[in-house]
Amino acid sequence: MSTKAAKRSAKQKPGHRAEETFRVLISHQRIRTRVRQMAQEIRRDFPNDQIHLVGVLKGSVLFLADLARELGGEVSFDFISVSSYGKGMDSTGEVKLIKDLDVSIEGRTVLVVEDILDTGLTLKYLLRLFEERKPKHLRVAVLLDKVERRIADVKADYTGFVIPNEFVVGYGLDFDERYRNLPDVCVVRLGPHGKTKVDA
Ligand code: IMP
Repeated sequence: MSTKAAKRSAKQKPGHRAEETFRVLISHQRIRTRVRQMAQEIRRDFPNDQIHLVGVLKGSVLFLADLARELGGEVSFDFISVSSYGKGMDSTGEVKLIKDLDVSIEGRTVLVVEDILDTGLTLKYLLRLFEERKPKHLRVAVLLDKVERRIADVKADYTGFVIPNEFVVGYGLDFDERYRNLPDVCVVRLGPHGKTKVDA
């Protein structure tokens, strides 16, 4: 979808529910440009390595696919799935492993690929898990960073966009498993008075 078309349709998305409205925060065109720049930075840092991308399911899937295509050179993929409980303002920080990696990361150049850094508790859990497995290099790429919400002392090595504290969907990110397929990153609002999932 073009940026203009996206803006025109910002209030109406396919399959949207009446009480949900959208505003394009980052257009697909801006995402494409930024992902290309990030891939160049990453490849510059590891020009000769096979870069082992570890995607955190499911939100990172579209970002990982685009990043992989821009990286050039040797790239391999693996995926991990975790779930967190008590998300939101009263996060307990409990993270549960749902699906582990398929192959060992020992001695590899690993790039953890995350859709969004929010409290940072998920990433903290993952970094601790992966560090124990002795990769050669361990780096993190995130598309979006809600810096204001950080609880854990973690940061990404490569960041696409720093965004405000608003609940976003699209380009892999969901709201109750919907809207992952939107090309743009959009702020979703649930009620006429702008009550969002994050505020809830
Ligand atoms: P953290 O552990 O609080 O950093 O949470 C990271 C995870 O929370 C992300 O991988 C997303 O799955 C989810 N998340 C956080 N903020 C948003 C958002 O605005 N939209 C969709 N998912 C989000």
